[in-house]
Amino acid sequence: MAGVDGIRRRRGARHIGVSNFQIPHLRRLIDEVGVVPEINQIEAHPYLPNNDVRDFGAGHGILTQAWSPLARGAILDDPQVRALAEDLGRTPAQVVLRWAIERGDVIFPKSVHPERQLENLSIFDFSLPPTAREVLDGLDRGEAGRQGSHPDTMDLITR
Ligand SMILES: NC(=O)c1ccc[n+]([C@@H]2O[C@H](COP(=O)([O-])OP(=O)(O)OC[C@H]3O[C@@H](n4cnc5c(N)ncnc54)[C@H](OP(=O)(O)O)[C@@H]3O)[C@@H](O)[C@H]2O)c1
Repeated sequence: MAGVDGIRRRRGARHIGVSNFQIPHLRRLIDEVGVVPEINQIEAHPYLPNNDVRDFGAGHGILTQAWSPLARGAILDDPQVRALAEDLGRTPAQVVLRWAIERGDVIFPKSVHPERQLENLSIFDFSLPPTAREVLDGLDRGEAGRQGSHPDTMDLITR
């Protein structure tokens, strides 16, 4: 009882998630293994919206989980983000996190400060006006916006 069929028969893994899968990785998993993962955890924030991978996932019912949703803090001093935050009476982090959940991403911002954790959780009582979304959509820097390693070139753990 090997492979995915074996796992299914044993009901050993019912909800399969992957991380840093690019489109070719997802295609291979779907076509060769016959598994459509439920979620793909990838870097995503306004500086790197990662729309191609997101859209491919959405087309296959795969949820996107955005890692570094605050661009590791790099986006919080962005003048356009700060201006939006001021207009909306929110913090820059709240505006950026709200952008992510409004487009349907699962987010898990990291902070070691309890007050910031609370701030980051307090994003479900407002919404972004379309003009604000347009500003945030316009911050896309493509590959230059990437904060972490590119999945195609990052060091792999091999055994
Ligand atoms: N799957 C992967 O390959 C992968 C790769 C990278 C990261 N991740 C995961 O993604 C999660 C988050 O990513 P991340 O930590 O890289 O980046 P992030 O959540 O985008 O940003 C974290 C940075 O933002 C600061 N911050 C958080 N909330 C803030 C607020 N309200 N105001 C001001 N500054 C704030 C934090 O500082 P303080 O802590 O000092 O508040 C920290 O420096 C982590 O759990 C990480 O493990 C996954």
